[in-house]
Parts: sequence; C-alpha cells; structure tokens
Amino acid sequence: MRIDVVTIFPEYLEPLNVSLVGKARARGRLDIHLHHLRDWTTDVHRTVDDTPYGGGPGMVMKPEPWGAALDAVLERGAEELAGRGLGEGAVPTLVVPTPSGRPFTQELAQRLAAEPWLAFAPARYEGIDRRVIEEAADRMPVVEASIGDYVLAGGEVAVLVMVEAVARLLPGVLGNAESHRDDSFAAGAMADLLEGPVYTKPAEWRGRAVPEVLLSGNHGLIARWRREQAFRRTLAMRPDLVGRWEKAAFDKHDRKA
Ligand code: ADE
Repeated sequence: MRIDVVTIFPEYLEPLNVSLVGKARARGRLDIHLHHLRDWTTDVHRTVDDTPYGGGPGMVMKPEPWGAALDAVLERGAEELAGRGLGEGAVPTLVVPTPSGRPFTQELAQRLAAEPWLAFAPARYEGIDRRVIEEAADRMPVVEASIGDYVLAGGEVAVLVMVEAVARLLPGVLGNAESHRDDSFAAGAMADLLEGPVYTKPAEWRGRAVPEVLLSGNHGLIARWRREQAFRRTLAMRPDLVGRWEKAAFDKHDRKA
C-alpha cells in the first residue's frame, strides 16, 4: 500500500518509523511518503493560513498550497505506481481527518485497508478551505473522518491512529495472521463485543490468582468463559453496543450467561 501525507509538521509523523508500522515500511509492505505543505507556498513567509471569510476566531488553511500539493502528490504517485506496473491513471482515496467527519471505525479501517493508495490531508487551525475538499472530490474518492468526539490541535495524531489501524490489517503485517480476528469491533462472531481480560504467567501475582478455567486446558470451557467476560465487559463499558447485538449470534449457553 502507498500512503502520502501532506502536513505542516512532518516531524509529528516520526512514530510511523517505529514498531509495527515501521517494520511494515522496512519490509516494503507500506510505502509512506511525507510531504511538507509549505513546499507548495509561493511567498517568502511560506504562509499556509489566513483569516476566515465571515469573521470568527482562528485561521483557515489557504486553498492554493493545498491544491498544488495534492496535484503534485497525485502526479508523482500515479507516475510511480504506473512505473511499477501497478495500474495506469491510479488515484488515491483522500482521507481528511476532521472532528466534523464520519466516525473512524474498524469497518472504515477495513475498507481503507483494501485500497492500494491512500493520501492524508491533516489540517491545523480551523480547517482547510472547503473548496479544496470539493475540488479533490471531483478527482478522487474523499473520506472525511473523525477519530472521536473531542478536538485535537490538528489532524496529524488522527493520521497516526488511522494509519496504524489500517496497517495492522494488511496481509503479512501482523506476526500472527489470526491475531486481529477476535479484536474488539472486528466483524465476525465477536462483532460489537469488547474483549475481556487477559492474563499471563505467573499463575499467582501479589496474591491474585489467574481465573482457574484458563489453567484447565479445556478449550470449550475457556472459549465459553471468554465470551461471557466479553458480554460483561461490553455491558459495563459500552452499553450502547448491546443494542447492536443480534439474536442470531447467540446460542443457548449465551442465554444462561
Ligand atoms: N482533528 C482535530 N480533531 C480531530 C478528531 N477528533 N478526529 C480527526 N481529526 C481531528
């Protein structure tokens, strides 16, 4: 997968060199290109923002640098992908992190993980001039997404969140191919269930014992126990998810739990 990020703080994205995403890059599974938005300014101050039309607090990101940056990203990326025989005239899906976007969910992460090319446009200040998003949408799919109901100082941290959520879904990125199957929020048997508690050695620590059943070696009982714990955890932490549980997903043992 190719990923382009245009930002005024490329250094904010250095964690993309670490751990799972860093390894996926090193192994060539992820081809991440960071671009400095100010490289597409034309004045001596390298200005990227201006006062909002209609008044109000804060500043708005100017359309010209963003337009030029996205033009260049599209052109370079398409050239490179074509050069590697990965399709002529490809366009990225443009992801715009914003608190006013649709919720970034596991489902959206899965959709994005199926794309060959993503471009991210994280904003600072009050956001990007609307015309940039509209004009981009004439040329490529655009997804405006929020990572939660709170406001960050800018979209860069949201990019880190989204890239990590997407990267771990790419084939060959997680060590154990099974290990995201039962994730909280993954589609499947555990959909809309939060994961319950986990334990490792020693079997007793500071007077606290690991639940007996996990030491029993009875895989049926263990699966049943884990499922019950997931129900309890979801009821306690996310009662809003309980309404999404489907009758057909339960069996007679669940009803007892
Ligand atoms: N930029 C600022 N706050 C954000 C949020 N919650 N999600 C995505 N991008 C943001």
